[in-house]
Amino acid sequence: MQTVFLELITIKTLILNGSPRKNGDTSFLINKVISGLDGEYKLVNAYYSNISPCIDCRACRYKNGCSINDDMNTVYSYIEECDNILIASPLYFSELTGRLLDAASRLQMYFSAKYFGGNEIPIKPKRGAVILTGGGMGKPDKAYDTAVMLLHNMNAFDICPPVYSLNTDKIPACEDKNALSQAERISDFFNMS
Ligand SMILES: Cc1cc2nc3c(=O)[nH]c(=O)nc-3n(C[C@H](O)[C@H](O)[C@H](O)COP(=O)(O)O)c2cc1C
Repeated sequence: MQTVFLELITIKTLILNGSPRKNGDTSFLINKVISGLDGEYKLVNAYYSNISPCIDCRACRYKNGCSINDDMNTVYSYIEECDNILIASPLYFSELTGRLLDAASRLQMYFSAKYFGGNEIPIKPKRGAVILTGGGMGKPDKAYDTAVMLLHNMNAFDICPPVYSLNTDKIPACEDKNALSQAERISDFFNMS
């Protein structure tokens, strides 16, 4: 007799929010993505989580893991097992916000394990997406490149076209029809994982 194990597969999505405004433009677009998502998700707001920046102590060059003990511990676990990662941020001086970059600096642990320790930490290959909002000044290219570099660092190489709402001083994201429909496409893209 053959025994068949049926594994229930739940799609897991990590969402990194770089906005301090709880009901702002970025959050509105994130909620649009969430409303169409299958499976479970973990939402991490860089401003309201207890995640310190990397202090370059270099412990991760010699031993897997980070020497800082904070909310990033659960984020690391989720990064390693999830299927999708969304990075969403307002532009601050054409970059991702500082607090998001602080949290992202902790991804150095993955880089160090691979390049200094020669002991890569396994991270499930995944899909990625980027949402950027801006008042209407400057271009999103720098922030987008940073977000993509971070996604690559987390083994997300299959990346959805970016979603931008870049004129929020005049048209808030909640009224930006183009951005809203593109946000729906992120959910569809993630649901194919
Ligand atoms: C410190 C700071 C820097 C900003 N720099 C830019 C910028 O470089 N380009 C831009 O278009 N908007 C800039 N903005 C505007 C925000 O990106 C914009 O208002 C955005 O929609 C806010 O998103 P949120 O409501 O999700 O926080 C900046 C805002 C702040 C507070």
